[in-house]
This record gives sequence, structure tokens and C-alpha cells, in this order.
Amino acid sequence: VTVIGLGAMGRALAETFLRQGYLTTVWNRSANKADLLVSQGAVRATTVAEAVTASQLLVVCVVDYTAVLDLLDPHADRLGGRVLVNLTNGTPAQARRLAAWAMAQGAEYLDGGIMAVPAMIGQAVAQLLYSGSQEAFVAHRDTLSHLGTSSYLGNDPGLASLYDLALLSGMYGLFGGFLHAVALVGTERVTATAFLRLLLPWLSGMLEALPALATQIDRGDYTHEVASNLVMQAIAVANIIDASTAQGIRNYLVAPLQALVNPAPARRDGAHHAREPLAARSPLADD
Ligand SMILES: NC(=O)c1ccc[n+]([C@@H]2O[C@H](COP(=O)([O-])OP(=O)(O)OC[C@H]3O[C@@H](n4cnc5c(N)ncnc54)[C@H](OP(=O)(O)O)[C@@H]3O)[C@@H](O)[C@H]2O)c1
Repeated sequence: VTVIGLGAMGRALAETFLRQGYLTTVWNRSANKADLLVSQGAVRATTVAEAVTASQLLVVCVVDYTAVLDLLDPHADRLGGRVLVNLTNGTPAQARRLAAWAMAQGAEYLDGGIMAVPAMIGQAVAQLLYSGSQEAFVAHRDTLSHLGTSSYLGNDPGLASLYDLALLSGMYGLFGGFLHAVALVGTERVTATAFLRLLLPWLSGMLEALPALATQIDRGDYTHEVASNLVMQAIAVANIIDASTAQGIRNYLVAPLQALVNPAPARRDGAHHAREPLAARSPLADD
């Protein structure tokens, strides 16, 4: 295996392959980041060309897709017959463009999203999402499975980053709510650490509301009797905004929620969006 890019994540990927006994060739723009890996048995490629030709399976994990293409394009003629697994964070459109470019060079392309921090790599708790060439995924499934729990989402190379960004959106929404919450109590000198004693069990309890919300969304039917109706929610969000302003806290993390909880007049009358259920279209529907 070749690993190109030895930032925090690339090093964790390379270390895991090494630990599993793979002959692992590594390259990084700042060469010194390979030193520890080399002392552990990795092969140092001194050029990208060397890194590309060393292995059939090329794993790339750098800062963004521009860097991926800048690194590989000068060596495009060496990519034929190899499998390029790009674990760099990007958009579905970037993934589709890079896949088309790689295939034009005669390479198989798998795009990947890593749902883990580096310390989790190599454990089942790390989730790795893949999309693109199914043949490449099947051929290298065993090798890739050492990194964590793999999910193959489909032939469209853009799917892994779509899911990745959706999962990250959930995380950033949580972090945004957390930051606003601790800022609000912080105005009365409550520390973030102390507040966690209440916040953590509260958020864990609220996570249990998600399956019921997901069912409503998938059915497109919001007419059922619920314990926490929208008018009540709209008052609570308005109160958060008023109280935050009064305590001197800016509302930019919470303010967008107001548009969501203030239903359009047509919807207040009970009208709702009826549409085809979504579940059947999900590659993970049977999991
Ligand atoms: N760290 C995480 O928690 C985490 C979690 C999930 C996914 N990821 C994803 O993993 C990818 C890498 O993240 P990271 O945490 O490893 O970041 P990082 O520690 O900042 O490393 C960035 C890597 O990109 C390289 N790089 C930057 N610009 C470059 C260029 N123009 N040409 C060649 N190489 C370039 C850096 O090389 P130098 O060492 O020479 O600067 C380094 O190897 C990102 O897409 C990130 O979203 C990270």
C-alpha cells in the first residue's frame, strides 16, 4: 500500500497498514513527517512518482482536492491499472470530477469519507464510507477493513462525500448548539465543564427523539399528534433569542432556527408536503 499525505490522518492510516503487516510506502510534502513511520518499517518514497509506482493500491489523504490533483496530475501516466482511494474531504462534485480524471488515466477510483479522528483509526468505531468503483472496493475490502468499519455506498463516486458532509453537518449542528449553550450560562459565570453535568444527559435524551423525527420526514407526513408542537417550539426559540440578546450573546448560531419553527401560513392550516417515501432509495436502508 502507498499512503500519500502524512498529516495527522495520513499518519494514522499508514501506521495501521504497517501494524497489520503491509509493505507500506509513504510520501509527504514535508518529508520529516515520514521519519517515525520509516523507523517503524515504512518505505520512504522520495518523490510522488516513486510513491505512485510502488503499489497497486494508492491511498491519498491531504488537505483538499486541489492538492490531490496537483500531486498526481504530473504522474498521470503512471496511474494506469492502479486503484486510487482518495480519503481527502471534499464535495460530491469534486469527487465525481476526480473519479472521471482517474478513470481517464486507466485507474480505478474509490472516494472515501473518514468518520473518525486519527486515534480511532484501526478500530471498529472508525467508520469509513466508500463510493465509486465496486470492483476496486471488493478487491481491496480486506485491506481497507483494517482502517475501521467500511460501508460501500454505491457506484456514484460523489456518494461518500455526500454522506460524509451530511454526518459532519449533524456534528457541527451539535457543536453549534453546545457553544451557544455554554456562552449563555457563561454570562452568569457558569463554567462549560460544570454545565456539562446537565447538558450531556439532556442531549443524550434528545437523541432518542431522532427516530420518530426520521419516520415523519421519510413519510412526509407531519400531521400526527406530537408532544412538542411547533407553536410551542417557536415561542421557546424566540425566548432563547431574546434572553441571549439581553445577556449580551450574539444569536448567529440560533437565529436561523427561527425560520424553521415559524411555519408558513399554509402549513399552519395542516397542509403538508406529501411525497414518495425516501427509505427505499438509501443504500443503507437494509443495514
Ligand atoms: N484529523 C481529523 O480528525 C480528520 C478526521 C476525518 C477526516 N479527516 C480528513 O483527512 C484529510 C487530512 O486531514 P489531516 O487531519 O491529516 O490534516 P493535516 O494534519 O493538516 O495534514 C494535511 C496534509 O495535507 C498536506 N498538504 C497540504 N497542502 C498540500 C499541498 N499543496 N500539496 C501536497 N500536500 C499538501 C500536508 O502536507 P505537509 O505536512 O507538507 O503540510 C499534510 O500531509 C482532510 O481532508 C480531513 O478532512 C481528518
